[in-house]
Amino acid sequence: MTLHSMASSESAGGGSSVVVVANRLPVDRVRHSDGTDGWKRSPGGLVSALAPVMRKQDGSWIGWVGSPDEAPEPFHSDGMDLVAVSLSAEEIEHYYEGFSNATLWPPYHDVIVPAEFHREWWDAYVRVNRRFAAAAAEVASEGAIVWVQDYQLQLVPMQLREMRPDLKIGFFLHIPFPPGELFAQLPWRRQIMQGLLGADLVGFQREGAAGNFLDIATRYTPARRVSSSQVVIDGRRVTAAAFPISLDVDEVETLASDESTQARAAAMREELGSPQHVLLGVDRLDYTKGIRHRLKAWSELLADGDVTPQDAVFVQVATPSRERVDAYQALRDEIELEVGHINGEHGTIGTSPIHYLHSTYDRPELVAMFLAADVAVVTPLRDGMNLVAKEYVAARIDNRGSVVLSEFAGAADQLTDAVLVNPHDIDGLKAALLEAMHMPEREQERRMRSMRNQVKNYDVARWAGEFIACLRDECQ
Ligand code: ADP
Ligand code: F6P
Repeated sequence: MTLHSMASSESAGGGSSVVVVANRLPVDRVRHSDGTDGWKRSPGGLVSALAPVMRKQDGSWIGWVGSPDEAPEPFHSDGMDLVAVSLSAEEIEHYYEGFSNATLWPPYHDVIVPAEFHREWWDAYVRVNRRFAAAAAEVASEGAIVWVQDYQLQLVPMQLREMRPDLKIGFFLHIPFPPGELFAQLPWRRQIMQGLLGADLVGFQREGAAGNFLDIATRYTPARRVSSSQVVIDGRRVTAAAFPISLDVDEVETLASDESTQARAAAMREELGSPQHVLLGVDRLDYTKGIRHRLKAWSELLADGDVTPQDAVFVQVATPSRERVDAYQALRDEIELEVGHINGEHGTIGTSPIHYLHSTYDRPELVAMFLAADVAVVTPLRDGMNLVAKEYVAARIDNRGSVVLSEFAGAADQLTDAVLVNPHDIDGLKAALLEAMHMPEREQERRMRSMRNQVKNYDVARWAGEFIACLRDECQ
């Protein structure tokens, strides 16, 4: 039976007692140069966090394969049972690029770029959410836990509850949840809240986001606040709380301990000309990540003579992302222009003050980059969590290195020993970069030990365990 036919039956119930529903599967379909098809890891923090959890868990992951009109039979990959939901080219344009990433993404990230509102995008969002809900209804066993992920699928909790009232439904938002003044702009604000309120538990990265959700729920729906973390709607209690996401620390530490990773890190430093300071940014190429602000700060430090290309190199890795969305195309052009400008202005024969890599790397290569870098520069203008900051800390088994971290990333709540910065304040950002570059080794070690303790004590298994326990009414 294909997923399409599975999804057309809405009540049967399948064999999985734990079901994750996310826009993307943890692997994307790729076509190799020899014409054969294969799979590669999907981009983003959601997959980095959830894949290790699901690998250790019996259960199914429902999602899209990343290209149009593909619906392979349910399959097993990388230790997980995967069920594909098919999207047409038009649905990708309207539901994913449109409503998810040009309507919802901006207001959920402080309207860094303006949001676009189109009714046909909304119609596609409703239709595609229902398809995901139907797939979950089909796969989940009686009384199963269904854990719906992220802003692309906010209607699924209520749609699924209507199909399968026996299920325990959790929802986790990986990105920020906006304050009421911004959420109010959405023409479909009431329907989105009703969709989310179909869950028993709605999880957020930060306390403030859970507070925003509870306030907005009582504003636009009949939900009534009954405690600091709960509302009641239609006689059901819905809990909202913060569960800051984390990573598989063991995976990163194992890679960082590997001699070949360490040798690769040493080779990278040599290839960069063995400068005294290597600074590293690793981001999806997204306007929320503050890459432009960071480049401006770097360019001014070079112009002021506070750094020279001989003693300091900035490596900016930018994973291609949402390349058909206008704001992302414009950002790429701007960044590439600015990188060219900085290298043209300040480089010499044999030195480039900034290395820009528009590419995706495998985990060992990424961990080698973390080991090669003295300073991780993580300065988003707004970010739900930012796992890169935590990955850098997890990789530094030598307790060296420092992190310049935006206070507008969720990670700032946990990594309080980073050099915290407001990325809009270019002078503050320049000062933070210099402070991190010149931090004495003993101070680096003190801070890194403390950040590593935090990350090791609260890894992704604990994050998932606490969420699921709370969903089973065993909140601590
Ligand atoms: P987001 O979810 O917004 O992309 P996060 O920082 O939370 O941001 O997660 C990004 C994830 O993607 C991290 O696990 C990071 O290691 C990974 N990643 C980022 N850039 C690359 C890249 N160029 N190659 C491979 N993985 C990357
Ligand atoms: O949490 C942020 C997020 O949007 C995830 O939902 C998503 O998987 C990831 O970033 C990457 O984005 P995309 O799936 O649009 O490539």
